[in-house]
Amino acid sequence: MPTKVTLSVNGKPVTREVEGRTLLVQLLREHLGLTGTHVGCDTSQCGACVVHVDGRSVKSCTMLAVQAEGTEVTTIEGLAAADGTLHPMQAAFREHHGLQCGYCTPGMVMSAVDLAQTHGQLDEKTVREGLEGNICRCTGYHNIVKAVLAGAEAMRADVPRAAE
Ligand code: FES
Ligand code: FES
Repeated sequence: MPTKVTLSVNGKPVTREVEGRTLLVQLLREHLGLTGTHVGCDTSQCGACVVHVDGRSVKSCTMLAVQAEGTEVTTIEGLAAADGTLHPMQAAFREHHGLQCGYCTPGMVMSAVDLAQTHGQLDEKTVREGLEGNICRCTGYHNIVKAVLAGAEAMRADVPRAAE
């Protein structure tokens, strides 16, 4: 039986009827058209589906849509400023070549922003451990780690967002 779920997604109130089995990632992608959140596995291992729920990174394939009732969800689409200026972590991924095909990137960036917010100053070991739940099949991770360190530093320094 469909259930009504009301939450905030990227700052906008959203109400949808969902099935009890509908996952948060399905609500985002299939009901709201926010396809920046990717699905890369069926084992909850890859992290391509990471979004923020009430400010903390969550694998949206591990949460039911109804469990998100009343929460504030941010997806990769909600990270850049309204004028399109990239978030410092997005800008760092671009600058440090932290992606190749880009499939893992939305989840990587969302996890990285949470890591930076949680730890403030990051070191390489913390980044590598913190991204354990995010799989990249292209980059070999070295540039991702560099990007996360640089993005965290930019967030700490509150550097104005790099213009497109
Ligand atoms: S799709 Fe969620 S962890 Fe892979
Ligand atoms: S850039 Fe292709 S999977 Fe990470």
